[in-house]
Amino acid sequence: MNQRSLGSLKMEATAAYNCRIPFREHSLAFSHRSLSSLHFHFTHTLRRPRHPTATMALNASHVDLSLSPRVNAVKPSKTVAISDLATALVQAGVPVIRLAAGEPDFDTPLPIAEAGINAIREGYTRYTPNAGTMELRQAICRKLKEENGITYTPDQVVVSNGAKQSLAQAVLAVCSPGDEVIIPAPFWVSYPEMARLADATPVILPTSISDNFLLDPKLLESKITERSRLLILCSPSNPTGSVYPKVLLAEIARIVAKHPKLLVLSDEIYEHIIYAPATHTSFASLPGMWDRTLTVNGFSKAFAMTGWRLGYIAGPKHFIAACGKIQSQLTSGASSIAQKAAVAALGLGYAGGEPVATMVKAFRERRDFLVKSFKEIDGVKISEPQGAFYLFLDFSFYYGRAAEGFGKIEDSESLCRYLLDVGQVALVPGSAFGDDTCIRISYAESLTTLQAAVERIKKSLARLSSAALV
Ligand SMILES: Cc1ncc(COP(=O)(O)O)c(C=O)c1O
Repeated sequence: MNQRSLGSLKMEATAAYNCRIPFREHSLAFSHRSLSSLHFHFTHTLRRPRHPTATMALNASHVDLSLSPRVNAVKPSKTVAISDLATALVQAGVPVIRLAAGEPDFDTPLPIAEAGINAIREGYTRYTPNAGTMELRQAICRKLKEENGITYTPDQVVVSNGAKQSLAQAVLAVCSPGDEVIIPAPFWVSYPEMARLADATPVILPTSISDNFLLDPKLLESKITERSRLLILCSPSNPTGSVYPKVLLAEIARIVAKHPKLLVLSDEIYEHIIYAPATHTSFASLPGMWDRTLTVNGFSKAFAMTGWRLGYIAGPKHFIAACGKIQSQLTSGASSIAQKAAVAALGLGYAGGEPVATMVKAFRERRDFLVKSFKEIDGVKISEPQGAFYLFLDFSFYYGRAAEGFGKIEDSESLCRYLLDVGQVALVPGSAFGDDTCIRISYAESLTTLQAAVERIKKSLARLSSAALV
């Protein structure tokens, strides 16, 4: 074992958890002993409170290392950190099955990739307008009209470097300090942190697995105050795969309509990854909602374009211009090459045409396989996902049990660590998404890999089921 290399890997694991710094590539091979010590480190890093003063104490060269209170208020993304850790383990020779990342395992469809290559060949490599090329914004407007029933003009669309940027800019554009951002849980990890970055307060509304993780309109109504500025909806949902039926959205819309200050940020990035008979409804298409809805979508998920970094927001010009203003001082326009590729993606046909339908069919087979498999496992509760490529399973039956040589499973984090240690399967603890009873499994992997993962998880859980509650 190479102690120095392991030490540097540990340091990077710490950095990734604390500061969201990506791992660099590692080619070292290390033993199982080093693996468990890395896991030990990983656990401690996850749990250790971070004090700015502690960082100060490390300062040997009299440089003031203090950070902005805004940064100190933000938690690093556990999904990014766990994916990075799992990747580092694989690169170090540990046969971990990675089901933590929110990234399709498919290659970008060829016509899209070729459009990108042609863009480079044809010298289409310069800055584009800040809000995106007219060609792409027009294509987005056509898509939103034909597929979603919402009408926009190109000046009501801003293209960004990923839907994440679109969402962050929207939160920054509309929230004032002290405003409340209502977020149903389980939530995508970044929503509460985006609210904090805007000096707003996240207000988390729990949902339950028995209601398919859908927001109870009565609960929403009871939590709206005069400070509520934004309601963030995500359908199909990451992490649960739930899809909001139109009737429920209409009920939510009726409540929202009573509160002039309240806007809706509708994250529709998984729109095309949906399993019939479930259907997608754009919140802005509901009566009276166009004026107060900001619709976010992107190319990462449906078109398998995560690395191209392209997303967009559409909404009333007043708000969209504000998002564009922020973008103009942060990044300017998105990649010219990716924008050419995105035009090709939107040209593939309704809902992404054949290439997207093929990927959705594969996701559906995997979902069916996993749902069937986990239904057969003792104590696991399931809400069958209707979209996206995640399963959010309640494993709390296993909490309070002790595994030999591991210790007590206390919560979703220790169960994930146990499954990584014993089963060598990387999953994301539900605590990252605001629900500690569950664990998220991403099924953006081949059926063969998923079959192997289920076997490993089954075996690891079997060891726990026979253990006494402690
Ligand atoms: C719910 C949700 N919204 C937005 C994004 C951001 O997507 P991107 O920035 O890759 O377009 C993600 C990515 O994981 C997501 O899961």
